[in-house]
Amino acid sequence: MDVMEAILTRRSIRKYAPGKISEEQLMTIIKAGCHAPSAHNRQPWHFVVIRNREKLKKIAEFHTYAKMLHDADTCIVVCGDKERQPQTGFLIEDCSAAIQNMLLAVHGMGLGAVWCGLYPVIHLTRGMKQLLSLPETIIPVGMISIGHKGEEKAAADRFDKSKIHYEEW
Ligand SMILES: Cc1cc2nc3c(=O)[nH]c(=O)nc-3n(C[C@H](O)[C@H](O)[C@H](O)COP(=O)(O)O)c2cc1C
Repeated sequence: MDVMEAILTRRSIRKYAPGKISEEQLMTIIKAGCHAPSAHNRQPWHFVVIRNREKLKKIAEFHTYAKMLHDADTCIVVCGDKERQPQTGFLIEDCSAAIQNMLLAVHGMGLGAVWCGLYPVIHLTRGMKQLLSLPETIIPVGMISIGHKGEEKAAADRFDKSKIHYEEW
């Protein structure tokens, strides 16, 4: 799949079929995250991989919009290190770029994923900090739920020329 095809056909996949994601696939997904651009090239991200069924269920208990984790094979929580990037805005942007890279990698591999937000929702970041024993300097920014596809979705056409402004608004 070439880059534009991947970008234009990626969709959020929230239904999963049984089947494991291999260690090699997992490392490829995380490698895609690590290759994202970041402010000052600080690469302030960390990746917490969760495959334990009970832990996946616990996340779904406090995250109303992450019920798909019940059937997901893996969840990767992307965390930002405040010591490496003290500007919170940059930290969130850097981790978000990593998440999008990972979503595209998952899609390119024929697997399904969805981005579930954490930051800046206080009860979600607090819940995740407790569950994963995150140090005070680490912010859980977002997570992706990954599995073998249990649904297919058509590409969405979102190109809107009215959003383009030349030279001024
Ligand atoms: C910051 C952010 C947070 C999101 N949080 C959730 C979430 O908690 N649960 C969920 O099912 N989808 C979540 N999504 C996925 C969006 O709902 C989805 O990307 C959007 O509806 C467009 O659909 P598509 O991904 O299929 O193109 C989130 C997406 C972003 C960028």
